[in-house]
Amino acid sequence: MTTTPTSQLPADHPLTSGLTSESALLNQYRGSRTSAGAPASPERRPVWFMRQAGRSLPEYRELREGTSMLDSCLNPDMASEITLQPVRRHDVDAAIFFSDIVIPLRLAGVGVEIKPGVGPVLDAPVRTAADVAALPELDDAAFAPITEAIQRTTAELGSTPLIGFAGAPFTLAAYMVEGRPSRDHLGPRAMMHTDPQTWNALAAWAADVSGRFMRAQLMAGASAAQLFDSWAGSLGRADYQRHVLPHSTAALSHVSGLSGPDGVSAPLVHFGTGTSEILDLLKTAGADVVGVDYRLNLSEATRRLGPETPLQGNIDPAFLTADWSVLEAHVREVIAAGSGAAGHVLNLGHGVPPETDPAVLTRVVELIHSIDP
Ligand code: CP3
Repeated sequence: MTTTPTSQLPADHPLTSGLTSESALLNQYRGSRTSAGAPASPERRPVWFMRQAGRSLPEYRELREGTSMLDSCLNPDMASEITLQPVRRHDVDAAIFFSDIVIPLRLAGVGVEIKPGVGPVLDAPVRTAADVAALPELDDAAFAPITEAIQRTTAELGSTPLIGFAGAPFTLAAYMVEGRPSRDHLGPRAMMHTDPQTWNALAAWAADVSGRFMRAQLMAGASAAQLFDSWAGSLGRADYQRHVLPHSTAALSHVSGLSGPDGVSAPLVHFGTGTSEILDLLKTAGADVVGVDYRLNLSEATRRLGPETPLQGNIDPAFLTADWSVLEAHVREVIAAGSGAAGHVLNLGHGVPPETDPAVLTRVVELIHSIDP
């Protein structure tokens, strides 16, 4: 059965009901610093951390004991509780849904595990035209545990927005072709040139499942979504533009313009690491906000993208173990560098390292909230 996808969020969605629509996070994602007649924002400066839920938290390690990563993601009670842990502990301005970029593969019936300390490992890599043709269809009904976890989570979060996410087609396909994490992603990069037709079919499959994964999260109650293209930095501009950008655009098209009846729409963020040289291309895929990794100064990002583009980032995780005075100076520099953009949400330039002292993260949040917006 095919139905035309609606662009309307449900009536009880936190964006529709107004619970999260005026939150500090969403105001910055919308670029409220430049919107005509916008009041000087009375609210605090928003911050959240990629991988804020995870091994840096003792309460996470305790809850995860004895349950595999992907099984925890598919247990609505656990996924919801783990999503809430960093919000309670750090007082961050958003929750990020606890899940993983390979969950749509698992839900489609592709054999995949997350090996501790390694990352996603597939039972069989996807390398030939026949492998791609044999990929299963993902049934929307399979998203039930995701929908349930999100409904439980947003009921607890109240006015704190939940961010949904998915892996971008290149990053997801990179794991599928290699069958496991790799350093240089030679497999998918070679496939683009040796067998572009198979590459396009695979990337289109990945775009479809990731786009629908994000859509399921937004429809269930997430107020924003982020597309992670963690490995896009291994591509040159020409290859990104020709072989990847159309697929990332397709993934985002599943969720662009999802809005409540009053037209308040869910902002979309596009993030990758090592993407300084393709940042302008990343922006054209259709997200509202560009996430910047720790390598590029935010003022330079604004020069490349234009002041109208809201930014997210980019505290270097390497500073989290430095003396507090060194870390504080770095955070203040990041805030100053982001001041030329229409909106700025503080985050790390990549995920929280597992060995991070959570007390440091809490202190960083307090510092950011103490600085006048
Ligand atoms: O807090 C959050 O940011 C939300 C949850 C989240 C996870 N994975 C949970 C997770 C998000 C947004 C992701 C996305 C993800 N997963 C990406 C893109 C972001 C990035 O980091 O670049 C990628 C590349 C993956 C694939 C993946 N999953 C890797 C490389 C790993 C690490 C393996 C390891 O043990 O070092 C995972 C596992 C994973 N995903 C963990 C978490 C909390 C660690 C699981 C554990 O507790 O052992």
